[in-house]
Amino acid sequence: MAEQVAVPRHIAIVMDGNGRWASRRFLPRIAGHKQGVDALKRIVKACASRHVPVLTVFAFSSENWNRPAEEVSGLMDILALALAREVSQLQRDGVQLHFVGDREALSARVRKGLEDAEVATAGNSLLTLNVCFNYGGRWDIASAAARLAAAGTPITEESLSGALALAHCADPDLVIRTGGEKRLSNFLLWQAAYSELCFSDVLWPDFDEAALDAALQEYASRERRFGQTSQQIAESTETRR
Ligand code: FPP
Repeated sequence: MAEQVAVPRHIAIVMDGNGRWASRRFLPRIAGHKQGVDALKRIVKACASRHVPVLTVFAFSSENWNRPAEEVSGLMDILALALAREVSQLQRDGVQLHFVGDREALSARVRKGLEDAEVATAGNSLLTLNVCFNYGGRWDIASAAARLAAAGTPITEESLSGALALAHCADPDLVIRTGGEKRLSNFLLWQAAYSELCFSDVLWPDFDEAALDAALQEYASRERRFGQTSQQIAESTETRR
């Protein structure tokens, strides 16, 4: 049974609102995504300084291929550029990078960049940063189940959990979605079963330490019951004291 903890051991974020941030400034949508990279750098540092050990972000969904071709290729370029520019700093900051999602559809250049970044940061342990790219929760569950079936492994909650793309991490304690919408959009469908959900109206490029702290405060005020009653939770807290 998971337990209530004051600082989440794993925060997952749907970084929404880049397009609106750009439109409000009469800029192309891609300018919002570029600004989104700066917000991500800020939040990685903020999570590390708050002793959050795992951060997972949704950077490109399986459904984002349906966006205009210019925006899709712009997002690929942003990923390649971010890898080229940021990996050495992430390395110095003790961040271990993982890319989660279907790499088949990505170009050889992008795939090589992802692999190199993972190898370069594999020895780091301050913060694990999972970047979900060409990721969808349904894709994750279906491909894990297909792998288990092909290997003749019985499908149970344990075997499926262990075959998912985030098997190297505990499930997220807190899922934040920025940009005002209130849905999961195919993000971590299995892993978010007991996560606390926090929705912020702040557009992702404006998401800063204060906005993160507001979400952390909201999280700390929630009672996580994991199917139990309030009384049971109070009693087990008492017993642990
Ligand atoms: C959703 O906002 C955001 C995305 C689809 C892309 C997220 C990417 C970043 C934050 C850049 C970081 C990326 C990498 C590769 C590390 P939206 O475009 O749907 O915004 P809208 O709802 O305002 O239109």
